[in-house]
Amino acid sequence: MNTTIDKIQQSAKSELESASSVDEVKSISIKVLGRKGLITQFLRNISALPESERPTAGKRANQAKKNIEVLVDETIRKLETVSTAPDDLIDVSLPGRPSFAGKLHPITQVTDSICDIFTRMGFEIVEGPEIESDYYNFEALNFPKNHPARDMQDTFFVSDEVVLRTHTSPTQPRVMEKQQPPVRIIAPGKVYRCDSDLTHTPMFHQVEGLLVDDNISFGDLKGTLTAFVHQMFDEETGLRFRPSFFPFTEPSAEVDIRCVICRGKGCRVCSQTGWLEILGAGMVHPAVFENIGYDTDRYSGFAFGMGVERIAMLKYGIDDIRRYYENDLRFLQQF
Ligand code: DAH
Repeated sequence: MNTTIDKIQQSAKSELESASSVDEVKSISIKVLGRKGLITQFLRNISALPESERPTAGKRANQAKKNIEVLVDETIRKLETVSTAPDDLIDVSLPGRPSFAGKLHPITQVTDSICDIFTRMGFEIVEGPEIESDYYNFEALNFPKNHPARDMQDTFFVSDEVVLRTHTSPTQPRVMEKQQPPVRIIAPGKVYRCDSDLTHTPMFHQVEGLLVDDNISFGDLKGTLTAFVHQMFDEETGLRFRPSFFPFTEPSAEVDIRCVICRGKGCRVCSQTGWLEILGAGMVHPAVFENIGYDTDRYSGFAFGMGVERIAMLKYGIDDIRRYYENDLRFLQQF
């Protein structure tokens, strides 16, 4: 009799040891411990034993039952840990999954290179608010109320006196009213205009520059911007200054660079002109200095403002500005 219960326990043990799944363990458990299982059957047959053997046989059977229950639990626990960390199930011959490292957005990269070039020339980086008062965005920059030049700026109004800044130029009066010359700053940031097509998005980025000191001339402006273009593009890139108009500079200019695609021969990107406009610039208008309270007899200065998306498009040969903001990783990963 004892040998029967030993046999049941032995074979349950070896079956459990070789079980490879939780389901298999469960069916072994049912077969041995279940209502119609081997141990139950054994207990039922105890009455057929001689009276003297019954108590020991019952005890042994109950002990075997407990042992097997413990074994079942242990085996299930072991198999569950294995299936969450399946060392032996990893197929080491499969190619690895690449992990994608994050990168700066191309517009951030280009903004950073513009800022690097100017900080190496001694300019300090400042920032201004994107929600701006009419005063700093227009008035202080010599755009009086109802001036037609305001029309070009496609303004988003928050209220009559508050706008989303249409350019980074308001950082000029904001810096000057806090500090006496010399002033030498660049101000990168987001600007907003109600405009959207192949070359315009309602939000875009500009970098503003301002330098005010004794004896600053248009020659300083040309030298600074030439040094910038040569570092941003290359030493061969020529540039030209075209007369233009901005209320806060006099004289004002728009600056073109030799087409980086055709090198001046004429192509689709430069509309066959050989030139590409990259920024607006000029000598700070005395009216701006007067608004601030700077001595216009003593100080002069230059300012410039450039669109970062525009520079990035030329640098990378991108023909649709909206690509920068579609968040298509196939596009963004190229930079
Ligand atoms: N703020 C002008 C614009 O967004 C660009 C500009 C032109 C900035 C001339 C300047 C400047 O500082 O001197 O259209």
